[in-house]
Amino acid sequence: MAFLIAANTRADLFASAVRAQAPGLDLRVAPELGGIADIEYALVWNPSHGLLRRLPHLKLIISVGAGVDSILSDPELPEVPIVRYVDPDLTGRMVEYIVLNVLYHHRRMSEFRELQVDRRWRYLPEPAARELRVGIMGLGVLGSAAGQFLRALGYRLRGWSRAPKTIEGVACFAGMNELAAFLADTDILAVLLPLTAETRGIVNRGLLRKLSRQGRVKELPGPVLINAGRGGLQIDADIVAALAAGELYAASLDVFETEPLPPASPLWTHPRVVITPHNAAESAPAAIVAYALEQMRRQQRGQPLAYLIDRAKGY
Ligand code: NDP
Ligand code: OXD
Repeated sequence: MAFLIAANTRADLFASAVRAQAPGLDLRVAPELGGIADIEYALVWNPSHGLLRRLPHLKLIISVGAGVDSILSDPELPEVPIVRYVDPDLTGRMVEYIVLNVLYHHRRMSEFRELQVDRRWRYLPEPAARELRVGIMGLGVLGSAAGQFLRALGYRLRGWSRAPKTIEGVACFAGMNELAAFLADTDILAVLLPLTAETRGIVNRGLLRKLSRQGRVKELPGPVLINAGRGGLQIDADIVAALAAGELYAASLDVFETEPLPPASPLWTHPRVVITPHNAAESAPAAIVAYALEQMRRQQRGQPLAYLIDRAKGY
């Protein structure tokens, strides 16, 4: 039995962690596959299309990421169970990112930075957290964890998911029929959706306009967008246009339609846009490997696998 690492980044770090945590394991690191008939487990991040299909005895695909869109986009993906990565290490990092960026725009930090550069001492009004409505698109593992921390800071929380939910202290909305109502009273929108056929391009001008008409609070110049889900959820040009039209006050973007974000993108230089290179929650290799090995052992013991992907839903 062999364990394959097929990752286009950090493969060496994952391999070191496997050697440290499971020294006896027959480890392969793509593209050096060795005898493919031995490979039963694969830990993958953006695997090249067709690679997994070549492994005749593959029993389990373990995603390095919480999002599995890159795996599911493989047209030759074999019918093997897929589990995604869910771990307190990753969740904690995402909570930090969301809370940081909600606070940053709520407290108008990009404007204060500009004033500081000009050595200008100027008062800017800011709402209290309790006056702001943060809307989270995606109330899964990450969205609901971020919501708990934002609630503790006093923000008013609302969330949108596929299936209806009841979460204490969160006004919950579900499905396309309730999307407009969810957006209408959202001042800061945090997107933590998976990229699926249903969600691709959902953060577009039409959606952003639904925020700006009704979501505005007095002291904040306009609504805010934070996207740490996937770049394919958003239309970059629509965000630029919404910022220019004043339909958006500011944005924090960790993900983009094209990654790395092309140097020519106007998002790079926009004074109210915070850009990070898809590292809102880059989990530690040791934590990812510990999780992968535990999933492998569960399958070997015949125990139910946690966080199995439902291919029909796409997440
Ligand atoms: P989960 O699967 O736990 O949660 C996904 C949420 O999205 C669920 O609430 C789900 O609804 C909702 N959802 C899915 N499709 C729809 C839809 N069509 N309409 C409305 N709601 C929908 O995922 P996680 O919270 O673990 O992760 C979310 C995403 O975050 C990942 O898929 C990944 O893309 C991204 N991510 C980004 C990282 C980064 O560094 N930038 C790091 C980690 C993850 P329901 O509850 O009804 O199923
Ligand atoms: C993930 C990611 O999906 O880092 O985990 O994007």
